[in-house]
Amino acid sequence: MNTDLIQSELLDGILTVRINRPEKKNALTTVMYGALADALLRAEEEPGIRVVLLCGSSDCFTSGNDIADFINFPPTGSDSPVLRFLNAITNATKPLVAAVSGAAIGVGTTLLLHCDLVYAADTAQFQMPFVSLGLCPEAGSSLLLPQLMGHQRASELLLLGEPFSAVRAEQLGIVTAVLPQADILQAVRARAEQLAAQPAAAVRLTKALLKRGDAEKLRETALYEIECFLERLASPEAREALQAFMERRKPDFTQFD
Ligand code: COA
Repeated sequence: MNTDLIQSELLDGILTVRINRPEKKNALTTVMYGALADALLRAEEEPGIRVVLLCGSSDCFTSGNDIADFINFPPTGSDSPVLRFLNAITNATKPLVAAVSGAAIGVGTTLLLHCDLVYAADTAQFQMPFVSLGLCPEAGSSLLLPQLMGHQRASELLLLGEPFSAVRAEQLGIVTAVLPQADILQAVRARAEQLAAQPAAAVRLTKALLKRGDAEKLRETALYEIECFLERLASPEAREALQAFMERRKPDFTQFD
């Protein structure tokens, strides 16, 4: 599956995958998850691809799952496009480099936990508003975030769900480095070229070794999170929060215990 909303370009061993739905802040629909999964699987299969570079538009990386899709087409079985995407990014064996400009919300932040080099523009903003939407963490983030930064910092990000800056994301270990917005893509491209010039088998082995310790626990956590997430998606709290976003009003959770 491919679509203009996800654009892929292969140049000098680097597959650039761009999220391209700027009028909706790059919110990810079912079709887009399918195209992202396909791009990642293509990278696995094609020997000429040495690095995947993931980016969005200059003013937005992605505002996360499309909220109308959450209401109208919630994910179902393990072959649903969002789950195919999460599996593909979790199990990617080739290096993933991310360039983040603007907002990275929800899965826009949690997908970064599976990337190997993450560069953020100084203007980037991160947020994991799962709880604020009546939902719960996904993509293995309930395991990976406390490992990265400790329970208390992870709790603040997840329970309050407030936006945080690129500098904060770097301090917390979500981001490798913060770069000036003006030339982020060129700078990240240069990093990706540097990585593509490294011996590919040694790169893949090192990535695998870095991830090996947690692989089983991560798989099990991600599966359990999805079970919880789907339950939450059908909950009255989530329905109120998602509907409130669509109606551009504040949600009212006082009616729920
Ligand atoms: N799902 C569906 N539509 C979305 C969206 C999302 N996740 N994020 C933004 N949009 C849409 C808006 O509804 C709006 O559509 P419209 O022009 O047809 O009304 C358009 O994108 C522009 O968004 P807007 O909110 O007007 O832009 P902004 O600059 O004021 O704010 C965000 C940008 C990203 C901060 C804000 O849109 C936002 O918080 N989005 C929701 C993020 C979210 O909760 N994601 C789910 C995480 S699990």
